[in-house]
Amino acid sequence: MSKKARKVDTVTLIDNRTGKQIELDLLQSTSGPMTIDIRSLYKKLGYFTYDPGFMSTASCWSDITYLDGEEGVLEYRGYPIEQLAEKSTFLETSYLLLHGELPTQSQLDEFVSNITYHTMLHEQLLRFYSGFRRDGHPMAIMVGVVGALSAFYHDDEDIHNPEDRMNAAHRLVAKMPTIAAWSYRYAMGLPFIYPDNSLDYSANFLHMMFAMPSEKYDVNPLLAKALDVILILHADHEQNASTSTVRLAGSSQANPFAVLASGIASLWGPAHGGANEAVIRMLTEINESGKPLSHFIERAKDKNDRFRLMGFGHRVYKNYDPRAKIIRKICHDMLAQGACTDPSHQKLLDTAMELEQVALSDDYFKSRNLYPNVDFYSGIIFLGMGIPLNMFTVLFAVGRSVGWVAQWNEMMGDSESKIGRPRQLYTGSPRREYKPIDKRISQD
Ligand code: SDX
Repeated sequence: MSKKARKVDTVTLIDNRTGKQIELDLLQSTSGPMTIDIRSLYKKLGYFTYDPGFMSTASCWSDITYLDGEEGVLEYRGYPIEQLAEKSTFLETSYLLLHGELPTQSQLDEFVSNITYHTMLHEQLLRFYSGFRRDGHPMAIMVGVVGALSAFYHDDEDIHNPEDRMNAAHRLVAKMPTIAAWSYRYAMGLPFIYPDNSLDYSANFLHMMFAMPSEKYDVNPLLAKALDVILILHADHEQNASTSTVRLAGSSQANPFAVLASGIASLWGPAHGGANEAVIRMLTEINESGKPLSHFIERAKDKNDRFRLMGFGHRVYKNYDPRAKIIRKICHDMLAQGACTDPSHQKLLDTAMELEQVALSDDYFKSRNLYPNVDFYSGIIFLGMGIPLNMFTVLFAVGRSVGWVAQWNEMMGDSESKIGRPRQLYTGSPRREYKPIDKRISQD
């Protein structure tokens, strides 16, 4: 248990069936709601708790990220996301997430050098790409190739050794852009572009994505800076679905590379990281339908219609996602500076802005606190950078990789951490005897 989660009081639980009364510790967190420690509940009362989706349940303690859904606050190691987005870089923020403090200049220089000299992949890893269909989704390639790293580094990583864990963290942060860029190059039938150590992290990614061996390629500094901020915004986000997947997979003491592959798989879903791709598909469908926005608003409200306003709503934010505010401004700045040449991007942004206004004035969305989330605008920026639709969630995974590995490292460094093994509310058949096949009747 973190040193900072201390017992401040107790809560009394009375079992009305038996009259039994127990005391449970009330734990004080640094920020946010106090937490009832229910670890002794089953032993004291013989009951489980039921909370599918973890709506009211803390699965762990963490010192890394804090968010307040009511106030729209997001902080990495106590630093507000707005300040990091404005003043930091993705690698400096990565150092902060991994080590808990902002680096001195020499610490940052050493960290950047470490990451820079881990960006190359083992040459044999290239062969994994050729096993995929050219039209395979890049997220499928990411799951496969990142998981395959465990075949290359499995033996020299002792997950109980903090130095080895940090080495694995450096390798993952460093190699994600290379793996990601090459998944795009493979899909396009283009030659792989190797990392250029003279470029910074985000510029290097755009270089590996778009350079051609036949001519000089200069990265647009505006786009590199916009990407760096977007990676900062996506770096971590408490115990979201993919981070919880990483913690659960890592709790069995699995290899960190295989564990991150599980996080990538979870992020892919359209309810989670896949939403940025789904938002563009939705905005395009709206633009091409010739129907008014009100038609789509009504569909989003119709329980019999699977259509949802992608990029809206959040499990925790019941206010504006602070990341969406920052990305919305980047969107406007990029389009205003002419960094995007395709007029259809402006049309998508115009539709997004109009949809946001219409939705936020509609009682259905207001009453459910459904605001734009991080995915609502990010796709428009990615389009403006020339990033293809099926690469959007890949970029989310590149940013989130440092959060996943920081949370994995925190869990593995906790001497009290156990294998995650939730219980259940069993609602199946009571005990019954095996029936010979000639005695069975069809249930249809
Ligand atoms: C990310 O957890 C994280 O931190 C995630 C993330 C991160 O950084 O890791 O922030 C990244 O995943 C952002 C979310 C991206 N997903 C989307 O944009 C997909 C669209 N959003 C929805 O699928 C939904 O809002 C979720 C999944 C994000 C949240 O779902 P919840 O918390 O389970 O809420 P819910 O589905 O119970 O919705 C509550 C009500 C329901 O209506 P009622 O049953 O009360 O009548 O709101 C409705 C829902 O039908 N609702 C929507 C809606 N989202 C919720 N109605 C229309 N459009 C929507 N988008």
